[in-house]
Amino acid sequence: MRLLDIVQRESPPRPWAEGDNLPWHDPAFSARMLAEHLSQAHDLASRRATTIDRHVAWIHHTILDGQPSRILDLGCGPGLYSHRLARLGHTCTGIDYSPAAIAYAQQQAVDHELACTFVLDDIRHAPFDTGYDLALLLYGEFNVFRPDHIGLILRKVHAALRPGGQLLLEPHTRAAVEQLGRQTASWFSSPGGLFSPAPHLVLMDHAWNGQQQTATTRYYVVDAAGAGVTRFAQTMQGYSEDEYRSLLADHGFPAIRFYPGLAPDAPVDPALCAILATQAPA
Ligand SMILES: C[S@@+](CC[C@H](N)C(=O)[O-])C[C@H]1O[C@@H](n2cnc3c(N)ncnc32)[C@H](O)[C@@H]1O
Repeated sequence: MRLLDIVQRESPPRPWAEGDNLPWHDPAFSARMLAEHLSQAHDLASRRATTIDRHVAWIHHTILDGQPSRILDLGCGPGLYSHRLARLGHTCTGIDYSPAAIAYAQQQAVDHELACTFVLDDIRHAPFDTGYDLALLLYGEFNVFRPDHIGLILRKVHAALRPGGQLLLEPHTRAAVEQLGRQTASWFSSPGGLFSPAPHLVLMDHAWNGQQQTATTRYYVVDAAGAGVTRFAQTMQGYSEDEYRSLLADHGFPAIRFYPGLAPDAPVDPALCAILATQAPA
């Protein structure tokens, strides 16, 4: 793309038409993103270790009642939840399409002899195996999937769980998705960072589509030397509590419970909520 393409961009953007997510699966981007996952200076990509420790303790004691369980961690990133759950006696399978995150997760599991398997794949297409007690899809990623893709994932999760198994989601609230879409355009410059190792600008615009209840963010990464432009776009689907309830009921999870967050003693992010969905027993 050229600078002129930014000026002539479609406005407002159509949901998902210009891309569906950040390039998590790009090897170079994923290596830079891994540093963000592991940083203890902020909560981007993954939260800090002290927060994840509390989430994992809550999952272990409250959701799993301390019983050794088989856990499917979807969009597991560098395995920060799976590693901790394995240390508490659980057996985990993590799936993520970020090559650097999966390589790190797997190496940690080998180094520390953890009962974890990590798979590099797209959760929309990956086979999930069966017999899990619990499936996780954490840290807001639920909303980036188009409705037909989230339906596909929920059908596969349902088939992967044992009868009565549980699905723990941590999606965005509808209000948070709308707020994201209503943000004004902004930009920053970087001598080299997440979006590019070379000096660059990142220009961002946002759009709220009230009819489809989606927020689309476009990132235009402008190379400072040659002014070439790379665009990434991400759309998030907003759901009300009732819509989460009926979506999950439609996919075989009739019993669901909302929580303000993943642990009562962890910092609450008002943009997110936690949902525990239980599969109908056979
Ligand atoms: C916000 S991060 C959260 C990572 C991890 N759950 C955590 O909380 O530490 C979202 C993760 O979802 C992964 N992801 C997004 N879309 C995916 C897809 N279609 N298939 C597999 N992984 C995906 C990304 O690569 C990234 O690692």
